[in-house]
Amino acid sequence: MEGPLPTESRIWPRRYEEVYERSMRDPEGFWAEQAKRLDWFKTWDRVLEWDPPYARWFVGGRINASHNALDRHVATWRKNKAAIIWEGEPGDEKVITYYRLYREVNRFASVLKDLGVRKGDRVAIYLPMIPELPVAMLACARIGAVHTVVFSGFSSTALADRINDSRAKVLVTADGGYRRGKVVPLKRIADEAVDRAPSIETVVVVRRTGSEVSMQEGRDYWWHDLMEGARDYVEPEPVESTHPLFILYTSGTTGKPKGIVHGTGGYLVGVESTMRWVFDVRDEDIFWTAADVGWITGHSYIVYGPLVTGATTVMYEGAPDYPSPDRWWSIVERQGVTVLYTSPTAIRMFMRYGEEWPKRHDLSSLRLLGTVGEPINPEAWRWYYRVIGGERCPIVDTWWQTETGANMIAPCPGISLVPLKPGSATLPLPGVEADVVDEGGNPVPPGVRGYLVIKRPWPSMLLGVYRDPVRYREVYWSKFPGWYYTGDYAMRDEDGYFWLLGRADEVLKVSGHRIGTMELESALVSHEAVAEAAVVGKPHPVKGETPVAFVVLREGFSPGPELRDSIREFIRGEISPLYVPSEVHFVQRLPKTRSGKIMRRVLRAVVSGEEVGDLTTLEDEASVEEVKKAYEEFKALYEGGE
Ligand code: WT7
Repeated sequence: MEGPLPTESRIWPRRYEEVYERSMRDPEGFWAEQAKRLDWFKTWDRVLEWDPPYARWFVGGRINASHNALDRHVATWRKNKAAIIWEGEPGDEKVITYYRLYREVNRFASVLKDLGVRKGDRVAIYLPMIPELPVAMLACARIGAVHTVVFSGFSSTALADRINDSRAKVLVTADGGYRRGKVVPLKRIADEAVDRAPSIETVVVVRRTGSEVSMQEGRDYWWHDLMEGARDYVEPEPVESTHPLFILYTSGTTGKPKGIVHGTGGYLVGVESTMRWVFDVRDEDIFWTAADVGWITGHSYIVYGPLVTGATTVMYEGAPDYPSPDRWWSIVERQGVTVLYTSPTAIRMFMRYGEEWPKRHDLSSLRLLGTVGEPINPEAWRWYYRVIGGERCPIVDTWWQTETGANMIAPCPGISLVPLKPGSATLPLPGVEADVVDEGGNPVPPGVRGYLVIKRPWPSMLLGVYRDPVRYREVYWSKFPGWYYTGDYAMRDEDGYFWLLGRADEVLKVSGHRIGTMELESALVSHEAVAEAAVVGKPHPVKGETPVAFVVLREGFSPGPELRDSIREFIRGEISPLYVPSEVHFVQRLPKTRSGKIMRRVLRAVVSGEEVGDLTTLEDEASVEEVKKAYEEFKALYEGGE
């Protein structure tokens, strides 16, 4: 290995333990202290109302996210500081100061108001990674509207489902976005979605690519036209601390994605605190979260976290390896990036391209690296540490979820850096009571796998699942009543460090993106040829895992490469290219229990080449042989292939 890892703290070594201990002894006092770092129009009456499974933080307090991200900085020297450094994929650049961002947000807030958007109304945002995306989010926040950002790689069906669930009345989109030098026709996709989403009254279209789009009279308006008549100032709405700031959809174990609802005060306290503790944010930082704003990582650490702390945030529109595999390293060098936060998948991809690409650039501006989204394998960790961080930068491996809103288990160099261990997210952040327990809720001994739970509420905890209280209760609070169930396996070591061991439920992490196997299965069975489907994850060297589908065909359809392609295309169109199954296997029947449940465990074992294990509950043994045979045939055909 490359010598000792950075372990010295900036302050003093026992500081983390002291802060953590204090947070456990007096959580409300501790969180109230953090909350004071934000601007409140009215201070809260009570720090926490905990009526399990609902937590209300800073009750009685009034606050506005856009005010905290903009107005309070514009009143200081930060007025002329770069808020956003943006790079488009084709190479265009924009540096937007806090003052400019403030103006744009105010103006778009007035546009939304004039379109009839009121406090509590939902606005769907389907934009590429362009500055109008954070502008639209902050404009919603300014007037108390609830944004729901839909990742621009999602298909029209996925977009329509999210609009319909949230009943958004305005959709903000663009004529297109750039991806690998091509234009993604976002407006066309949005039009298909809006055809099936009757709640949408108005579509606002940003001109990004200049491509031809159709505009529907009375429904569709150009962003720049509306902005022409906009007002320069809109009073920020002082919303209740518990007022929803956004809904973000994420996959779970059913066929339908869940709308995770985040509040305002608690959420902002979570992202503000972690910006300080985990990223040790400083005014001179050029902070780059290389993720998409369409995911929680982007919400919390491209938009709200950096802006609320007055940092400079970098936004890059396009593919990481376009036009060449050193695109990111060129951005780090040219923009002087100091903090880089990304996913293990991206790191593994760059590892494959080889060291020569980062070596072409001066990366000495970097001082801290971060990862998120899936467990990082020690090999990738070491490469990141050595090649990107020059053996100089600590790596913060941050465990958290869409639901948690902010980092939960991670090193905190902003307090004091504990010794790092490649592959471990280290210890829970202050205020976070995490544990690893067995089926009966008993803490497991070191080295034993169990379920990761959080034993008390934290400020950036989800408010609920949009319009689905039953699901909220069942998914997160029924397995261990009173504790938040994460859906993850974990293990602690002798030092108490947490090692995350992947999902314990039927959820895959494909390139760090979450997708429920049921969601893919219900899409698959809506293909005309598919009668039944089962999806499992297969380990993949770069993506972590990929979906593999087993399908039973309807009468009259016969297996073959064309049908396989058509099924894969279908997922691309129904959900997203991200989740296209890497393999589709045709079988006569699926292995099921006597009660009819698909035994995914068996399929998982087959695709990862493991022992199938206990089959006593299996209904029909021949099904396993058949699955194995289909898989063997596939391997013989594609050996050395994907
Ligand atoms: C799931 C949440 C949180 C932003 C990105 C993903 C996995 C997340 C880590 C990590 C191991 C991790 C978990 C978690 N995960 N971070 N550092 N080490 N696993 O958000 O899509 O809501 O996914 O990602 O399985 O439950 P998400």
